[in-house]
Amino acid sequence: MTASVAGARGGRRERAPLRPQAGGKGSDMQPTEKKSPTFKQELVAVFGKPVAENPTQPMVEAAFRRLGLDWRYLTVEVDPADLGEAVRGARAMGFAGFNCTIPHKVAVIPHLDGLGKSAELMGAVNCVVRRGDQLIGENTDGKGFLKALESRLAPARKRIVMFGAGGAARAVGVELGLAGAAHLTVVNRDERRGKELAELLAARAGLSVDFVPWNRSFRVPEGSDIVINATSIGLFPDTEARLDLEIGSLGSGMVVADVIPNPPKTRLVRDAESRGCTVIDGLEMLVNQGVIGIKYWTGLDADPKVMRDALLDIFGD
Ligand SMILES: NC(=O)c1ccc[n+]([C@@H]2O[C@H](COP(=O)([O-])OP(=O)(O)OC[C@H]3O[C@@H](n4cnc5c(N)ncnc54)[C@H](OP(=O)(O)O)[C@@H]3O)[C@@H](O)[C@H]2O)c1
Repeated sequence: MTASVAGARGGRRERAPLRPQAGGKGSDMQPTEKKSPTFKQELVAVFGKPVAENPTQPMVEAAFRRLGLDWRYLTVEVDPADLGEAVRGARAMGFAGFNCTIPHKVAVIPHLDGLGKSAELMGAVNCVVRRGDQLIGENTDGKGFLKALESRLAPARKRIVMFGAGGAARAVGVELGLAGAAHLTVVNRDERRGKELAELLAARAGLSVDFVPWNRSFRVPEGSDIVINATSIGLFPDTEARLDLEIGSLGSGMVVADVIPNPPKTRLVRDAESRGCTVIDGLEMLVNQGVIGIKYWTGLDADPKVMRDALLDIFGD
């Protein structure tokens, strides 16, 4: 078990069996077998505020349909003052788990029974999983990013530059440390925040790390293998915003990854493509963290293509 577990709360509740619909992928039903009717769905959710524009529900429900699961993913606006009651409600109603987004990723921790390793190192939870009668907090953001990166270049023993020092940067940085990166340069506008992240990653994720204040155009050092945008620069509606970066310092041997999912083709992605770099867009991270969450909740492997297609229907290419 990856989680360190504090005191259990609530009564024991067994997870209801997965109920593939006849004909669905993963179904073990014979065509002649009669299905006993049940109208009770399994529930998962995202809690956030504001949350209305969060596109996780169409992405995850597309995966559920492909898996033949009669599950529902609810997008629920929860005020910070009501977070504890919302978690109690999720327990009472037997949710298989739920995602947490802004502003609940840290505040949810006291309401849980334990944390997985990454969530504990980051001090932030984006995915809660019911295991037996316990609610365990995990963090899948960095794991989703890592999965995308590893499909191009494993970060072990690599030299990496990362822009940003917020929640996404922390999640990515911790996973890079756990994956054995050789060196990480954190570049951030706010010096205090950047230094704090660099110190945390060195102390807790075992990374060799330095911090560079971002007060002029940044030149990616020769010999860098991976460049990551973990800031919010380029996010809709400011889609033409550009990182203050010397594009000419991007070499064709580098992998350039952006965490921005909307739009997928950020300026950085386009600039890196024009330099011949291998490029990873923010949709991959979003889809992968969803695949990992679905695995935690259902035990099944979701189809990332179905999930990406659902997002592309919303965001466009
Ligand atoms: N694809 C995915 O699955 C996924 C998952 C999580 C997050 N994200 C994306 O990650 C982005 C960051 O999220 P977060 O939670 O880390 O936000 P955050 O905690 O608010 O951090 C934002 C970061 O962006 C930097 N920044 C913002 N505007 C800037 C500017 N004009 N110039 C320089 N630096 C700037 C901030 O620098 P300062 O410290 O100097 O303010 C900070 O480092 C969001 O856009 C979100 O969409 C994607």
